[in-house]
Amino acid sequence: MYPKKLLKTISMLCCLFIFTIIPMGFRILPVHAEILIDGVIDAGEYNQSISLQNGNYQLFWRYEEDKVVIGMKAKTLGWVSIGISPKGKNQMDQADMIIGWVESNGETKIHDAFSKGPMGPHPQDDTLGGTNDVTVFTGMELDGYTIIEFQRLLDTKDAYDLPFPSSGSLKYIAAYGSKDEYTSMHAFRVSGDAAIAKKAHSEIDAKAAKELYDKTPSLLIFDVSNAWKIGHLPGAINIEMNDVAQNLPKFNKERPILVYCRGEAPAIFVADLLMQNDFTDVYRLLGGFEAWVKAGYPSETYKEKTNIRFQIGKETYWVDDIAKTMDTKPIILEGRTMLPIRFLAESLGARLNWIPATQEIYIYLQLLEIKMKVGYSQAVVNGKTVYIDSNNPKVKPVIIPPGRTFLPLRFVAENLNCKVDWNSGKQEVTVTYLN
Ligand code: HEM
Repeated sequence: MYPKKLLKTISMLCCLFIFTIIPMGFRILPVHAEILIDGVIDAGEYNQSISLQNGNYQLFWRYEEDKVVIGMKAKTLGWVSIGISPKGKNQMDQADMIIGWVESNGETKIHDAFSKGPMGPHPQDDTLGGTNDVTVFTGMELDGYTIIEFQRLLDTKDAYDLPFPSSGSLKYIAAYGSKDEYTSMHAFRVSGDAAIAKKAHSEIDAKAAKELYDKTPSLLIFDVSNAWKIGHLPGAINIEMNDVAQNLPKFNKERPILVYCRGEAPAIFVADLLMQNDFTDVYRLLGGFEAWVKAGYPSETYKEKTNIRFQIGKETYWVDDIAKTMDTKPIILEGRTMLPIRFLAESLGARLNWIPATQEIYIYLQLLEIKMKVGYSQAVVNGKTVYIDSNNPKVKPVIIPPGRTFLPLRFVAENLNCKVDWNSGKQEVTVTYLN
């Protein structure tokens, strides 16, 4: 018997060979870095599984965007199969079946088949006018087991396939035979309904996390460590691992969330907790804060307060008494101070998303979010529609020629939990943000 590692390498080389000689037009679907369709089922490779007949038949699967990668492992050197059954009774009837085996020369065969009746026959889909939808696969026989791994679209749209469910439960039929010829009867067959575990969170390295951060102003960042004060990702919220559950209603499920810690375990716990509670876009930074800093990306330390001053008609403004210059000047319109909000938002660490097509602006500061639209006197603050100035509907975001968007400063600042003071003598607005 060859050692497992050697067999794995040989199998991978074979895959490489097969893939390189595959004719043009034959599309190889991309495979997740962690998941290898190599005939070996490694620990952690799949995140869904069922074990039947004391482990003599095991089914593994993992969702990969619009695809599913499936691993079948059965105690046989014959055929192994998984089917999706539309029936509660006579489950073979009209079932979508995938049957694979490893021939004596080591070659893996797989059939995308369809059962025409309660006892078969189950010809291949493409002989019935359908399509062969399992084109990426590898198999291996090892220690008396046959392992077949393959990839398929969740919904192939083929009349002879059934969609592979991504939530709820999987109504499966499973079987294996003692010979490669699968016209031979099953040695084991079973049917069942397997609960589909909620999707796992995505693990990303520091580089991917930075890309996500850069392109996603709405990203919520949870630092679940107790060292947030001494260093954290820009805009990260400090939340204790044990406080996350009770605060779930405060988090907007539509916003992607990046979770990290100083160690891995608390971040895994929180990311999984979010996924179990129907958050869909949850990422975990591998290596936590250290990996981020090591990659040279910016971080912040705790600051008790931020103080920003703007003067009407002046390009200079002050952030914590440090003078800065903007390329425009705050103005007064309808009795309200207006300015391009970037100068306030960025000083507070808020993120902006301007959508030119709809002239909408989104402002995010930790859990707070404000949506405004040019020409509209109403805004949406954390999901609630409110008037920007309930006494004056003329107060609204405006575009000032040649094309700068000016926003009412007090409304934005107050909704970002800042205190706003107006000094009419100096024509100066002071915005104070307490952390
Ligand atoms: C290899 C050719 C196959 C033949 C000749 C065959 C034949 C049969 C026959 C005669 C039955 C009814 C008797 C019984 O309950 O054992 C049956 C039932 C069953 N077969 Fe197959 N079968 C084949 C392949 C498969 C495959 C590939 C699967 C799974 C993907 C499968 C899953 C089942 C299941 C779950 C039942 C029980 C159905 C029920 O209780 O309603 N069979 N098969």
